[in-house]
Amino acid sequence: MTDTTIITFAQQKGGTGKTTLAIELACALRQTGRSIAIIDLDLQQTLSRWFALSTYNNNNDKITCIHSTIWQFHDHIQTLKDNGTDTIIVDTPPHQPQDTQSAIKASDLVLVPLLPSMFDIWSSEETFELISKERIPSRFIWNRVLTDSEIDTRFELPSSWSTLNTRVPNHIDFIQALSSGQSTQDMTTPSIAGQIMSKFSNEVLSLLVPEEMELSA
Ligand SMILES: Nc1ncnc2c1ncn2[C@@H]1O[C@H](COP(=O)(O)OP(=O)(O)O)[C@@H](O)[C@H]1O
Ligand SMILES: [Mg+2]
Repeated sequence: MTDTTIITFAQQKGGTGKTTLAIELACALRQTGRSIAIIDLDLQQTLSRWFALSTYNNNNDKITCIHSTIWQFHDHIQTLKDNGTDTIIVDTPPHQPQDTQSAIKASDLVLVPLLPSMFDIWSSEETFELISKERIPSRFIWNRVLTDSEIDTRFELPSSWSTLNTRVPNHIDFIQALSSGQSTQDMTTPSIAGQIMSKFSNEVLSLLVPEEMELSA
């Protein structure tokens, strides 16, 4: 692992929460004092538009965002490394296996948002194959969960798929906060969604640097 950590959100299926969780992770990690860069590889530029709104609202110290293409991607990564960026978070597009694979290859960890439905589990097989080919550590993360018991009883994942302990609930705060260029961390009234995002970022850190687990315990 280099000094700069690269975390990629990948999932060939659209609408599973890649962009939402990439933003949330960036904002939660910002609270730890790290310098964060987000690379938006999606032509739709959802993340870049959130960033523009966020910057307009002055919410954005310690985060930078670059909209990139796969041809510029490695140059952008190198520039960010040269600038001493602590963590790079990459948001990838759906249905673009080649772009996604290049991003996976450059990563220390790949996170795969997964919705609780058999359709989503079936569609995730392709993403897992891309990750397995590159032998990069990965974790699935359940998103838009309605009840924990549903996950525990209804869905059995292939044994080679590892999931994070953190499960992200289906919660209006994600929609409200992100629509106004914020994250659930920035909400003025304490948000259960924000607390779960802190847990999420601590779990991610613990995977990358085991000592971090003790510091954040
Ligand atoms: N945990 C959540 N609770 C409620 N809405 C969510 C949650 N995660 C994502 N969403 C919503 O689901 C939709 C798809 O999310 P998005 O992050 O754009 O997915 P992707 O980047 O994988 O296409 C968006 O409308 C987003 O606001
Ligand atoms: Mg997206």
